[in-house]
Amino acid sequence: MKTMLFSPGPVMVEEPVRQSLLHYDICHRSAEFEELFVDIQAKVLRLFNADDSYYSVIVSGSGTSANETCLSSVFAEGDEALLINNGVFGDRLLEILTKYNVPTHNYQPGWANDPDLAEVEEILKNNPKITFVCMVFHETSTSMINPVNAIGKLAKKYGKYYFVDCVSAAGGQHIDVVENGIDLCTSVGGKCLGCYPGSAYICGKEELMAKTAPAQGKNVYLNLGKHYQIAKSSHQTPNTPNVNLFWPLQAALDWALEKETLAGRVDRYKECAKILRDGMREMGLKFLLPDEKMSNTVTSVFLPEGCKMKVDEFVTALEKAGYTVYPGKGKYLEMNMFQVANMGAIYPEDCKKFLAVMKEIIFG
Ligand SMILES: Cc1ncc(COP(=O)(O)O)c(C=O)c1O
Repeated sequence: MKTMLFSPGPVMVEEPVRQSLLHYDICHRSAEFEELFVDIQAKVLRLFNADDSYYSVIVSGSGTSANETCLSSVFAEGDEALLINNGVFGDRLLEILTKYNVPTHNYQPGWANDPDLAEVEEILKNNPKITFVCMVFHETSTSMINPVNAIGKLAKKYGKYYFVDCVSAAGGQHIDVVENGIDLCTSVGGKCLGCYPGSAYICGKEELMAKTAPAQGKNVYLNLGKHYQIAKSSHQTPNTPNVNLFWPLQAALDWALEKETLAGRVDRYKECAKILRDGMREMGLKFLLPDEKMSNTVTSVFLPEGCKMKVDEFVTALEKAGYTVYPGKGKYLEMNMFQVANMGAIYPEDCKKFLAVMKEIIFG
């Protein structure tokens, strides 16, 4: 059934992005592909406000594939990680670090809680083997924006690299890798950029990528050193990429950077989120977080007390009415929390229509 996706990925795409899927077939070892690849690389850097000390690579896979490419590649024997973990996607980073046997200081301030900067500093001070501080920019499971700049400053103070999972942030939040001291970050087309799932990308300091030897990487396909070397030497990918998704990725980047502008997109997302939140507040619904801590693109909200429906029934009813939202995760599901996203081609009018349908379902 066709529904309007108010989910945090996959998202609604703009028509030119969809149309670009119909491009004629090309080979990934052709000059035409190389040109496309280089153009996308440059645009990915702009998405993160990177300067020319940064480099980008494209990975065919979901957001996890980009995270796994980084975290399976950058640690040498004996290196340790500090993970700031306050939600489901922090846990996912822990799962990757654990799978690749990276000794990890898993700092958990609690879901939806800010890290205590003094505690983070204490860990950095006492553990010289830590080489990377890792964190999620927008912890999608709670809608929370983490204190990226403050943690970046601490990482730099102690001479650590800084990895940030920007999977649900790129194109939705203002990100400035230079200002935030980010050395390596990831995202994927099928979220705030408004493209299809399966087009992941990595932006990082070129100095770091260049010294990440392919042999140090513990994964064959998701190998940052290999991706860097082949991108640098031949503007290609190590293996056969999802060639046909490179056109929509380029079209989505063009739409965001040129047609709408990054600032314009962030403003639209803020406007949509405000309409949704004001409307839900008027209905008496409560949020997990205060507005100033929530991202521009995901609202974590509870069904009203006394509501006869459980969240699963509500999500199904909305689906039948033509809208997809997410049930909350973990303990928040028990608390009847759900998540409404405004990522991709969603506009203020869509949000108003959504609110009317939602009101009808909850209050009849
Ligand atoms: C912050 C964050 N990191 C990682 C992921 C995993 O991305 P994927 O499902 O595309 O692998 C998600 C997915 O929603 C996410 O929101």
